[in-house]
Amino acid sequence: MKKYLVIGNPITHSLSPKLHNHWIKENNIDAVYEKKLIKEVDIEKIISEIKNGEIEGINVTVPFKQLIIPFLDEATPLARETKSVNTIYKKAGKIIGENTDASGFKNSLEYIKYNVKGKKIFILGAGGVAPSIISALKTMGSSEIILSNRTKEKGESLKKIYSDLKIIDWGETPDFDLIINATSLGLKEEDEIKLNYSSIGSNKFFYDVIYNPRRTKFLSKAKEFSNQIENGKYMFVFQAQHAFEIWHGIKPKIDKKVLELLEND
Ligand code: ATR
Repeated sequence: MKKYLVIGNPITHSLSPKLHNHWIKENNIDAVYEKKLIKEVDIEKIISEIKNGEIEGINVTVPFKQLIIPFLDEATPLARETKSVNTIYKKAGKIIGENTDASGFKNSLEYIKYNVKGKKIFILGAGGVAPSIISALKTMGSSEIILSNRTKEKGESLKKIYSDLKIIDWGETPDFDLIINATSLGLKEEDEIKLNYSSIGSNKFFYDVIYNPRRTKFLSKAKEFSNQIENGKYMFVFQAQHAFEIWHGIKPKIDKKVLELLEND
């Protein structure tokens, strides 16, 4: 039986095992997918377990997506560009790291039929997930990407990779069509992002990468002001679908059953 893992810290709340094991069963694959809480010192051993065939593939989550890169034989161009690996597999004896968060984000927008072509995008946050989102948006033809991060230098350093990014101060709100919360603000009930919702107006699109809680304050306030909202569940499902396809060569179904699986948690 082939073994797959998601590694992270914390990891208890990861929904990846539920999702992957559902698809494994649905496709009659002889495999199991588990979660494992690790520390940075454990990375080397885990990678050696992929090398020797004990583990077939790994999903990587916070806070190891960047830290794991030096331990790999190769990272794909996208993984190197975004400095983020969330999917690891072995090919011709080599341990390879890929980023499926960028395609996950892109596919989520396509799934809900939101066209970013020519749109003005405002990203909040310059943490681990920001480069994946920027990279995806650029391939989708957005007209302008403005980014704001509490620690401005972190935003500025993203300009080294994405030179046409516009960095503004934390707390400023520019005009935009689509705003994306790529910070960790909202994971806790009391978290709030200070935005002047009444001056933003309505009919904008608010996207939160967070999917648990399902509706952050960022999204509920946006809804109050008649904006379109979406949480990160589709991004999560599509990054998983891409990882599954890399490992098993099958594109698993995203249907009502899959979405219910996540809702009922
Ligand atoms: P992850 O590994 O989850 O990406 P991260 O890289 O630390 O974590 O990114 C978290 C993001 O949320 C960052 O953009 C962070 O802003 P800073 O770079 O200034 O730390 C943002 N963030 C976290 N807590 C915040 C807070 N209380 N106010 C504003 N931004 C916050």
